Amino acid sequence: MTVAAFMDLALYHPELGYYARADQRSGRAGDFFTSVDVGPLFGELLEIQLAEIASILQATAEVAENAERIHHNSARSARSAVAFDLVEAGAGNGRLSADILRAARERDRAFYDTIQLHLVEASAGARAAQRATLADVAERLASSDASFPCSFDGVVIANELLDALPVHQVVMREEGLRETYVISQRRSVLDTPERHGARASASDSLEPLRGAGAEQQRRGWGPGAVREGGAPRDVKNDDGLTVIEGPPSTPKLAEYLARLGIELEAGWRVEINLRAVEWIRDAARRLRRGFIILIDYGHEARELYSPTHAAGTLTSYSGHRSAGPEAPAAAASERRESSRSGGVPGARSVRAGVPEWGWGPTSDRKSSAAAPPWLQSPGEQDITAHVDFTSVRQAAEEEGLQTLGFLDQTYFLMGLFPEIRNPQSTPNPQSAIRNLKTLIMPGGLGSTHKILIFGKGVGTPALRGCSYKMRVT
Ligand SMILES: C[S@@+](CC[C@H](N)C(=O)[O-])C[C@H]1O[C@@H](n2cnc3c(N)ncnc32)[C@H](O)[C@@H]1O
Repeated sequence: MTVAAFMDLALYHPELGYYARADQRSGRAGDFFTSVDVGPLFGELLEIQLAEIASILQATAEVAENAERIHHNSARSARSAVAFDLVEAGAGNGRLSADILRAARERDRAFYDTIQLHLVEASAGARAAQRATLADVAERLASSDASFPCSFDGVVIANELLDALPVHQVVMREEGLRETYVISQRRSVLDTPERHGARASASDSLEPLRGAGAEQQRRGWGPGAVREGGAPRDVKNDDGLTVIEGPPSTPKLAEYLARLGIELEAGWRVEINLRAVEWIRDAARRLRRGFIILIDYGHEARELYSPTHAAGTLTSYSGHRSAGPEAPAAAASERRESSRSGGVPGARSVRAGVPEWGWGPTSDRKSSAAAPPWLQSPGEQDITAHVDFTSVRQAAEEEGLQTLGFLDQTYFLMGLFPEIRNPQSTPNPQSAIRNLKTLIMPGGLGSTHKILIFGKGVGTPALRGCSYKMRVT
């Protein structure tokens, strides 16, 4: 199966998947930190942006209504506040929305009363926990589902969703583009089609799992396809899973790179997130009028597909330890800081060049190959890859969205911060200031995480969070 199909099972299998087996995976007791784990401040800052967005939507709705009234020569009627759909995608157990709603109730009751909350979350366990998390603000919950509502007016927010979507992994060889496949050398849940679950896509065929037979070898399949100086290389893990290279599972992979004008050099191994593109297209079509705010770690394509990331960014997280091209397994016994903050929230160490486990751009020349860390213990660790913001943006614009801002989290939150209550006036000012620093500190969450904001049918309003315009480091 492709790496995308493997990730789909390892993360989202309805019984055994990593996200299915617990309603919350981040935080001190979990495997990594997100901005939400820093405390309610992140939600409080976001609420300021959402309240501004709601007032823009209300004002433009009034203009449209007045135009219609003049057109029909009818009398003006008293207009009630427009309902505001707040759609959080990848909402987990609903903590971010709970923080936003509590902030809205305290700061702007009229805004709070217009909110219709829709939580979109793949994990049934996390969905079941949402009402309890929302608790005193659960009255605003309008829906909770695994997929988007049919259509909505308002805003979609997604914090660290796109990086969690299954990705394909490709590698450039002298003979052309190849794809990484996972095969099982013994029967397991992975090669039992009826237990495979409905989420695997048609292109993610299970066929490669049924062994590297003669036909597959003839077409360039099999362990021999992953070579070390021409000899087969054993990259099996404890579960009998192995990676091999084969022809790309879909022409969409080469098309994706061609569209970006990216030419990979021989030996580069990178990830392609077709799902992120499908996701933004889907969100854009369902949004009638409003905004989409994406918060995630990643890069523009020209940086993601460059020598700096020539080993890819596929990383696993377990118990606040990360292992991947940016934090190799050999060093994973220590707490390690990276994009998703496996260790202390807010810091990141980008490792360029060749990973120590020999699974990188030049790994074919190394003698001690090991299985890539993301292949280990499926269902028990997180697997994630950096987002290609260029492709997400291109797809969004093709669907009629307008890009309104692309900023480091530092600059986005700094634009909102002047509006927030004085941290000195909070019950615990020291902790409020510490949390703010964690969220905005360049070199940590502040610069690894980017905010991409789109609008639809709203023109190009100057948003508070975009005070620093397009600003990414
Ligand atoms: C890294 S977690 C982030 C959770 C939360 N947003 C936060 O910041 O703490 C990613 C979440 O997205 C969910 N998810 C993954 N794919 C999804 C999809 N296609 N639609 C909705 N949720 C999805 C996962 O189940 C998981 O809860």
